Amino acid sequence: MALNTDKIRADFPILNSGKPPVYFDSACMTLRPQQVIDKINEYYVKYPGCAGRSLHSMARMVTENYRGARENIQKFFNAGDPSEIIFTRNTTEAINIVSRGLNLNKGDMVLTTDREHNSNLMPWLVRSERDGIKHKVVESKGDNTFDLARFEEMMTRDVKLVSMVHTSNLDGYTIPAENIIKIAHDHGALVMLDGAQSAPHGSVDLKKLDVDFFACSGHKMLGPSGIGMLYGKKDLLSGLNPYNVGGDTVIDTTYSGYKLSGLPERFEAGLQDYAGAIGFSAALDYIRGIGIDNISRHEKNLNKLMTDGVKDIPGLDIIGPVDSSLRGGILSFSIDGINPHDIVMLLDQSSSIMMRSGAHCVHSWFNARNLPNGSARASVYVYNTKDEVKVFVEALGKVVDFFRKS
Ligand code: ALA
Repeated sequence: MALNTDKIRADFPILNSGKPPVYFDSACMTLRPQQVIDKINEYYVKYPGCAGRSLHSMARMVTENYRGARENIQKFFNAGDPSEIIFTRNTTEAINIVSRGLNLNKGDMVLTTDREHNSNLMPWLVRSERDGIKHKVVESKGDNTFDLARFEEMMTRDVKLVSMVHTSNLDGYTIPAENIIKIAHDHGALVMLDGAQSAPHGSVDLKKLDVDFFACSGHKMLGPSGIGMLYGKKDLLSGLNPYNVGGDTVIDTTYSGYKLSGLPERFEAGLQDYAGAIGFSAALDYIRGIGIDNISRHEKNLNKLMTDGVKDIPGLDIIGPVDSSLRGGILSFSIDGINPHDIVMLLDQSSSIMMRSGAHCVHSWFNARNLPNGSARASVYVYNTKDEVKVFVEALGKVVDFFRKS
């Protein structure tokens, strides 16, 4: 079903005050609808207490809403049980909970892709340095798609974890996760997916995927910033060592000992971002109301228009697969001789088009290809329109003309 973008846009305050921007930076941070803002406000205005501690009625209301948010998230992603959903600050923190807590020994191997965000690269580099684990990168094929055959060859006995970006923030490419998980499990390895860019843009069914750990963030899917989640299979979460401990992570302590809480509390130390969790849940309701498959289709349509509109600009090189249908809602590109930072600054100044430029926290990918300036990246979401794509294509043409003539 085609999206009613007029109706959707009416929900987003930033798109209805003054001259709205052409917001093409949703891979970094999405805009938020009034429905999410209202839910966050409701917490601060009506029941600004803590969950799981005090027994008074306001605290009980927080506990109830916080629990409800967890259950809603569990249902949205079809996890087995609410206790498998851990609230975190973001995807990065979720990955760190696993990287620090997983029992990996010297010589154990972790495999990643070649387009990992620093969030799923740094944790393994640090563990290599600190604990002597091994880390290897599965290089993409020449067409920038995942090399399943190469991956299978690399699945040696020492691979204990495959930790991969599900959908890349660099180019929007989605790896064949079901095949990867099947192969990894056949070889006795666990799989974690960095779902920061997949959860907002396509259906994620955790039970069906059979993935062991999955991480995503609220701010990339219409929710507040500072809230995210880690999903883990119950027995695996129970086997992780929590690195952040304190209030609520324990049932009891003495001066010399402690008894850890069960799931999910043992990973949620201290008072939590209750408004964030409730807002995240409201964002998922909003997405559910539109339909995630409708969102995917909408983004792909816009990306095809964007790609067709700019692909013939002389010197323009698309990052990732050329076929826009393999890149979700992301068009990342460089233009020979023009710094990507200059492109996005000029697009903003001339036409209020907001995009991101640089390495997009995937420095390793650009460094390996000797592209120190990175790329310019347009990323669209549920509120973007064909008219905005036209504005972008036209404005980019003018920016290129300006640089070529000057
Ligand atoms: N990961 C975010 C981005 O790609 C910050 O912009």
